[in-house]
Amino acid sequence: MIKLFLSLTLLAGWCAVAAAQPQTIVPGGVWPDDRGQHVQAHGGGIIKLGDTWYWFGEDRGQANQRGIRYVGCYSSTDLVHWKFRHQVVQADDPAQLGRGWILERPKVYYNAPAKKYVMYTHIDDGRYKVASVAIFTCDTVDGDYKYLKYFRPLGQQSRDIGQFIDDDGTAYLIFEDRPNGFHIARLAADYLDVEKEMCLIPMHMEGGAVFHLNGLYYVIGSHLTGWNANPNLYATAAALTGPWSEFRDIAPPEVNTYGSQSTLALKVEGTQATNVIFMGDIWKPRTQWDSRYLWMPLHIDGATISLPPPANWTLDVKTGVVGQ
Ligand code: GAL
Repeated sequence: MIKLFLSLTLLAGWCAVAAAQPQTIVPGGVWPDDRGQHVQAHGGGIIKLGDTWYWFGEDRGQANQRGIRYVGCYSSTDLVHWKFRHQVVQADDPAQLGRGWILERPKVYYNAPAKKYVMYTHIDDGRYKVASVAIFTCDTVDGDYKYLKYFRPLGQQSRDIGQFIDDDGTAYLIFEDRPNGFHIARLAADYLDVEKEMCLIPMHMEGGAVFHLNGLYYVIGSHLTGWNANPNLYATAAALTGPWSEFRDIAPPEVNTYGSQSTLALKVEGTQATNVIFMGDIWKPRTQWDSRYLWMPLHIDGATISLPPPANWTLDVKTGVVGQ
């Protein structure tokens, strides 16, 4: 009874805070969900449906069972207060890759014609030799996603993946191909395959993120240093097919992207301003459940962008205005 009362009080408090504007984001902090638990959506992706954002990512919760791989799903209408929806994937090695198999960087797309949610993930064996993507699908955004298949996109190796949905709704997968570089490829009409290469950037970059703003495409990625942070880079192009500019540092190289690695660039368009949020992971390889998130609005000046030093900031998703 007391527990129920406490839970209701906590929930009421959470809802009251959620109703106030604008909302504060604390880069690098513990990010409690509606249950008071740190959000488990590492290496994540986000889609917006109506006025709600859904955040999917690796759920590395401490209570999870060994051998099973989990994807967490959360929803929010202000990008700050996240409601835990479900562990939408609880997979027990569906591709039979053996002990230590890997499922990382889940990204969900909504295929409107088929009314299906299609999730791409990096799938691998424990030695990262399979280098493939897996697809899981579901009829609802936060239901139990069912494993469909795994494959190498365009027949190439694929480890870190990223998600990009253009303003016209076209869905792309970004993937790191160790021998060749960094691909941006369009999904097939039903999203169940990777169909067309837009470009292959001959750079070795992970944590791929793309956004489109004022007629320019921006691509962001990290170097290949495993869980350790490195100076993330960006380039621009007038079309996804390129040509791409030289790559430049997103922040002073010595700060190593403030200890984070890119995973997504989320455009927030409000009535007064449009901002792009750099979403990065601050990995803690030995205590993955405690890995943090570094979300900051990018400074954008034409073809030049920079990631400002992390500091608490506010976002009003209605107006799109960010503040301190
Ligand atoms: C990183 C990658 C992560 C994970 C890690 C394993 O480079 O971005 O998603 O695969 O390596 O060492």
